[in-house]
Amino acid sequence: MKILVVADEQEMSLEAARIIGALVRTKPDAVLGLPTGSTPLGTYGELARMHHEENLDFSRVRTINLDEYIGLSDDHPQSYRAFMRKHLFDHINIDENNTHIPNGMAEDVEEECRRYDAIFYRYGRTDLQLIGIGVNAHIAFNEPADCFTPDTHIAELTESTIDANQRNFDHRDEVPRTAISVGMRGIMSTRHLVLIACGEGKAEAVAKSCFGPVTPRVPGSLIQLHPYVTVIADEAAMSLCPVFFSA
Ligand code: PGA
Repeated sequence: MKILVVADEQEMSLEAARIIGALVRTKPDAVLGLPTGSTPLGTYGELARMHHEENLDFSRVRTINLDEYIGLSDDHPQSYRAFMRKHLFDHINIDENNTHIPNGMAEDVEEECRRYDAIFYRYGRTDLQLIGIGVNAHIAFNEPADCFTPDTHIAELTESTIDANQRNFDHRDEVPRTAISVGMRGIMSTRHLVLIACGEGKAEAVAKSCFGPVTPRVPGSLIQLHPYVTVIADEAAMSLCPVFFSA
């Protein structure tokens, strides 16, 4: 595991965008696994800038997002499809047919989960999986549990995740309680896993995920088993990591 400790959120964003940009230049049809949330916002902004100012070409790039709320349609402002359009897809030359996000309005949600896993099988591995981490160390909506879930599945959001996500909604009651989430196989079957984290609120999750026991109680800890991981975290998010203190 390579850990890049950066000064702040902006540096984290630029570093992640630099890695993604370099991949897209060397492999124009790269398959990117992408997250939503506040952590990747700066990275998406920088990728948009690289597209406009440095001709970074996304015309052949394919993307697979990690999750979507159940019950929110594509055009609901808090849906993850709307998020991706607003923060990335509308600002780069990506073909929206090459972008994949679970359908939160699917009539048969189990069937939708199987359809989504089939996309991973069709593409093979993602070339790069960008991922954030929850304060409870969830990755995508793989919440702390008794076992890891490999497949795309219906995830029940924990109270702490609902609390964290309510900032995007007018009322806590509006936060969906369930989501379709890629499972651990989808996340781990990537060539390069890039985890980004900033702020002291993530310090415990980062320390446990990078240095604690590998356990489904700390979903992020599974990344320790991946052969090619880059963690990009600011000093606040790294503050509880033993290596950071001894460096
Ligand atoms: P955040 O969410 O980027 O909004 O902090 C991360 C996550 O919950 O995975």
